[in-house]
Amino acid sequence: MKIISVVSAKGGVGKTTVTATLAHALARQGARVLVLDLDPQNALGLHFGIHPNEQRGLSRATLAQQTLRSAVMESSSGAFIVPYGIVNEDDRGRFERHVETRPDWLLGHLNSLGLPQDTLVLLDTPPGPSVYMKQALHAANLVTVVTLSDAASYATIPMMQRLVQTYCLNRPNFIDCFYIVNQVDTSLQLSKDVTHLMQETFGDRVIGIVHRDQSVCEALAHDKSVMDYEPDSQASNDMRATAERINQRLQAQALVA
Ligand SMILES: Nc1ncnc2c1ncn2[C@@H]1O[C@H](COP(=O)(O)OP(=O)(O)OP(=O)(O)O)[C@@H](O)[C@H]1O
Ligand SMILES: [Mg+2]
Repeated sequence: MKIISVVSAKGGVGKTTVTATLAHALARQGARVLVLDLDPQNALGLHFGIHPNEQRGLSRATLAQQTLRSAVMESSSGAFIVPYGIVNEDDRGRFERHVETRPDWLLGHLNSLGLPQDTLVLLDTPPGPSVYMKQALHAANLVTVVTLSDAASYATIPMMQRLVQTYCLNRPNFIDCFYIVNQVDTSLQLSKDVTHLMQETFGDRVIGIVHRDQSVCEALAHDKSVMDYEPDSQASNDMRATAERINQRLQAQALVA
C-alpha cells in the first residue's frame, strides 16, 4: 500500500477534483485504487456518483467502532471510495476528538483492511492544518500539494513545506513531496509566470500542470468525473499525464527501495 495525501494550505484550489480525477485515471491505467474523503464537506463522493444522502463513511464507521470495510463503495472506473459520511455536529465533534488523540487512527484503519501490497490509497483533505491533515501527513508515503498559479496560492507554499517537514521528512517510508499546479490559464501572463516559477523552484517535483477547463465544473454538475464526462478534454488529458508520471515515480522508487 502506498498512501498519497492531497493537501493545500489554501482552500478551493482543486484538491477534491484532483484527488477524484487522479483516482479514476490511475484505476483506468490498471492500478488498484482506494480513495478516502477526510473532509467533513463530504464532497468527494459526488465525483464518484455516490448519492448526496448516502450516510455511510469513515466518520460513522469510526464512531460505531466498525472497520472501514462497511463504508467502502465501488465506482465506475473501478476505484474504491470511502466517503467522509454524514454525521450531526455533536458526532463530528466526538469523531474529531477521537482522531485527535490517536495519531495512528488512519493507519490502523487502513492496515486493518488488509489491502494488497500494490494498492494506491489517495486521501482528500480539508484546507489548512486540521486533525485530518495531520493524520494524512502522518500516514503519507507521498504528499501532493495542489496550488493555483496565482500569488496568493504561491505564498502559502512555505507553510505546507513546514508541515511536510514536521510530519513526513523524518520517516524512512516517506518518498517525496510533489506539486500540482491547477487551473493554469495560458492566456494570463501571471498564471504563466507563476507556473514557470514553480517549475524553476521545484523542478520535476512539479508532477502535474492542469489547465483551467470548463468541462471540470460541467462534469460535476452532471455527477460525473471529467474523465467520464469529457475524456478528451484538456483537463482529462492533463490528469491522465499526471497520473502516469506519479505511477512512473512510484515504480522507479520501488526499484531502488
Ligand atoms: N482544472 C480546473 N478547471 C476548472 N475548474 C476547476 C479545475 N479544478 C477545480 N475546479 C473547480 O474549482 C472549484 C474548487 O474545486 P475543489 O472543490 O476541488 O477544491 P478544493 O481544494 O477541494 O476545495 P476545499 O479547499 O474547499 O476542499 C470547483 O468548482 C471545481 O469544479
Ligand atoms: Mg475539497
